[in-house]
Amino acid sequence: MAHYTHHFILLFLATISFFSFTFSKDAPSINVLSFGAKPNGNFDSTTSFVKAWSSACKSKEPATFYVPKGFFLLKQVIFEGPCSSNIKFRIAGTIVAPSDYSSLGNKSGFWIMFRNLNGFSVQGGTFDGKGDSYWRCRKSGSSCPAGARSITFSSCNDVKVRGLTSLNSQSMHIAVEQCKNILFKDVNIKAPSTSPNTDGIDVTLSTGVTVIDATIRTGDDCIALIQGSTNVWIERVTCGPGHGISIGSLGTSEDEAGVQNVTVINSIFDGTQNGVRIKSWAKPSNGYASDIVFRNLTMLNAYNPIIIDQKYCPGDKNCPQQNSGVKISKVSYEHIRGTSACPQAINFDCSKSNPCEGIKLQDIDLVYDNGSSTSTCKNADGITRGEVIPKSCL
Ligand SMILES: *[C@@H]1O[C@H](CO)[C@@H](O)[C@H](O)[C@H]1NC(C)=O
Ligand SMILES: *[C@@H]1O[C@H](CO)[C@@H](O)[C@H](O)[C@H]1NC(C)=O
Ligand SMILES: *[C@@H]1O[C@H](CO)[C@@H](O)[C@H](O)[C@H]1NC(C)=O
Ligand SMILES: *[C@@H]1O[C@H](CO)[C@@H](O)[C@H](O)[C@H]1NC(C)=O
Repeated sequence: MAHYTHHFILLFLATISFFSFTFSKDAPSINVLSFGAKPNGNFDSTTSFVKAWSSACKSKEPATFYVPKGFFLLKQVIFEGPCSSNIKFRIAGTIVAPSDYSSLGNKSGFWIMFRNLNGFSVQGGTFDGKGDSYWRCRKSGSSCPAGARSITFSSCNDVKVRGLTSLNSQSMHIAVEQCKNILFKDVNIKAPSTSPNTDGIDVTLSTGVTVIDATIRTGDDCIALIQGSTNVWIERVTCGPGHGISIGSLGTSEDEAGVQNVTVINSIFDGTQNGVRIKSWAKPSNGYASDIVFRNLTMLNAYNPIIIDQKYCPGDKNCPQQNSGVKISKVSYEHIRGTSACPQAINFDCSKSNPCEGIKLQDIDLVYDNGSSTSTCKNADGITRGEVIPKSCL
């Protein structure tokens, strides 16, 4: 009897919580229009968004912060937590940056920031960074401000971002720093192949980062995992144009956190400068990259489909021994197929003082259109399994 009662109570509670989730009047939807925002693309809606946010953030019940259809001009803004409950940021419209780049670029290098939030979600929305006038400034060589990232998640836990589109950011599109458990699903990122430093998603000092079903077309790395990126899962990403998926640059500073447990699977690289790359500065550092898996990837005319480059030192400055302190180990390349745009399809250029260890090549078929492809190993140790084209240099 006690048993049945127990089940009945559970069912009863489940029903109540289901209805309170779907129909409760207590779960407020906070519409930015009620706080004076205007969907005409010209009116500066920053103050209205900040007021609406403050109201949502104070709500004792989980609130929905709602941005309806239309174009909302926002200047630099921080959506700051912690909040009293979990907030859903639901965006039907487009958020636009000011067309005068200096009104963002002169500040601390960001446009929209979500900070100190736990249990937070962003659903939908287009963020248009209006980067083109800034890129023109960069190309003309005149002194330009640093440039603003479009969307930053900083010190966040348990975040879900779904169906978001980011267009033409001044510098990187999405930055994740010091976050734990963040999911990006169905994210679409787009900037011209010629736009400078417009990385898609950059991760630093974060753990539990998942990117699934993303389309990233940009002028720099589609995804870059920098120091302290751990437990990262990247699946079904279509990258290109762009510079590929990159671990690094690592070893930027002498004392830095390592990159560990990264999986990149079932993804496509279309006309990219690199496919999967691990890159480190040729200077002293205690950084490392380990337990990395690249599996089931398709290369369509990628320039460097598989590359480890530990000799990074632009301008040959500050690299005394030309030797990277970053240790690279346990990196597995499995079932990687397609075409390489240059003959050298596999290039492991590892550190003399810290050779790569535990590299595995398995079932690779990378052909160069007009001839045979090659692989090159320097200071790299590992194993080869199954059929590997080009012939493995390990
Ligand atoms: C931004 O900096 C540039 C110089 O780099 C300056 O000409 C411009 O007036 C500044 N804009 C703002 C809004 O501060
Ligand atoms: C590695 O990361 C995945 C998520 O990508 C996680 O599920 C798994 O538990 C991690 N493994 C270890 C040993 O931490
Ligand atoms: C390999 O990845 C492709 C997408 O690029 C996917 O369609 C296919 O199902 C994957 N194969 C396996 C065995 O998971
Ligand atoms: C391959 O060769 C053809 C004809 O010689 C040339 O038109 C084409 O551009 C070459 N492709 C590459 C990738 O070099």
